[in-house]
Amino acid sequence: MRWYVGADHAGYCMKDALATMLRGLGDEVIDLGTNSGASVDYPDFGERVARKVAEQQDSLGLLVCGTGVGISMAANKVPGVRAARVTETFSARAAREHNDANVLCLGERVTGAGLAEEIVRVFRDTAFAGGRHARRVEQLAELDRRR
Ligand code: RB5
Repeated sequence: MRWYVGADHAGYCMKDALATMLRGLGDEVIDLGTNSGASVDYPDFGERVARKVAEQQDSLGLLVCGTGVGISMAANKVPGVRAARVTETFSARAAREHNDANVLCLGERVTGAGLAEEIVRVFRDTAFAGGRHARRVEQLAELDRRR
């Protein structure tokens, strides 16, 4: 699995820890920054990761900001991206199974380190279920085309 990861200054510590975990699982992780606590703007990093995920079929994105909210809003502006801001494992599973989410967004100020790892593992290890969900995901793609 290839991951593109990114964060703002409020999320880079969690992003780094999760990137290390993913590499430990054997995944390829491309870090698009930020890499320090110096203040940056979450839309820049949300867009950067989202564009790569949209280009590279079958890749996944991981984005972290303070809450996961702003960076998910930015990622979802990029056509082809289905970014899910998740705070528990039930939604992590459903985001993949039902929504074919391709970008996972977390909040470093919201979710503890252990739960964040669990969320990433569930998201990584869950496949899209297809079936009736495929029609709905196609409707999301149609919304992109109409934008
Ligand atoms: C940065 O202070 C904070 O606003 C940002 O990380 C994020 O939480 C926005 O949604």
